[in-house]
Amino acid sequence: MLSPIDIKNKKQKGEKVSMITAYDYAFAQMAEAAGVDQILVGDSLANTMLGYKKTSDIGMNEMQIFVAAVCRGAPNTHVVADMPYLSDKDPQTAYDNARRFMDLGASSIKLEGTPEGVIEYLRSHDIPVCAHHGLLPQTAENFKQKGRTEEEAAAIIKAAKFTDDLGCFEMVLEHIPEELGTKITNMVSAVTIGIGGGKFTDGQVLVMHDALGMHQRKNPPFATKFVDMFSLGVEGFKKYIDSVNNSGK
Ligand code: KIV
Repeated sequence: MLSPIDIKNKKQKGEKVSMITAYDYAFAQMAEAAGVDQILVGDSLANTMLGYKKTSDIGMNEMQIFVAAVCRGAPNTHVVADMPYLSDKDPQTAYDNARRFMDLGASSIKLEGTPEGVIEYLRSHDIPVCAHHGLLPQTAENFKQKGRTEEEAAAIIKAAKFTDDLGCFEMVLEHIPEELGTKITNMVSAVTIGIGGGKFTDGQVLVMHDALGMHQRKNPPFATKFVDMFSLGVEGFKKYIDSVNNSGK
């Protein structure tokens, strides 16, 4: 299993880091068998697994079930557990919740933005932190690309630098222009993981349901569908139904 230091070493050696979301035991086993560097148990599971409208609709109780399942399915892979909305609202709450994830077997936690005093507190208690800048789904008013204006780009750079200085080993850069993703990547010692952040970030992350084509929804422009599992699943179910209808005849 890659440690935060191993992951930072990959950046130093110019090697890319692959991260994919997974949310349950079976898909965690598949991601580990494929050899992915990191699995993110993202709060995107609120949408992809539970059918909620917003990622902020999920809380710690539900997240813990999924984090534990992924850790059981991928015991040799670095698992990043996503802090759900308000689970990091103050330093002590964030630490208690991060500790729960680490005790379930997570290797690090991810949080959106720069909640006051939280990253400092987590780092002082040796919790490895992956930051998240650019589009922040928990609080975003819309899903448009961020960092297009000079002012917005400067704020994202400032936040990225701040979390790098606090010792985050990694940061997700979501839905920002490629130039901005590249600039931040060259500026910080943390590993940058892009999702719609251009091709020059240190690594990439995708939501599993987008990458494997598990839903009928159109993917965002930056998310490649590598297989069409929805169609494969429907085909498999149809074959099963036919076999039941024809059994014993
Ligand atoms: O929750 C999630 O899946 C994420 C990724 C989009 C990075 O935060």
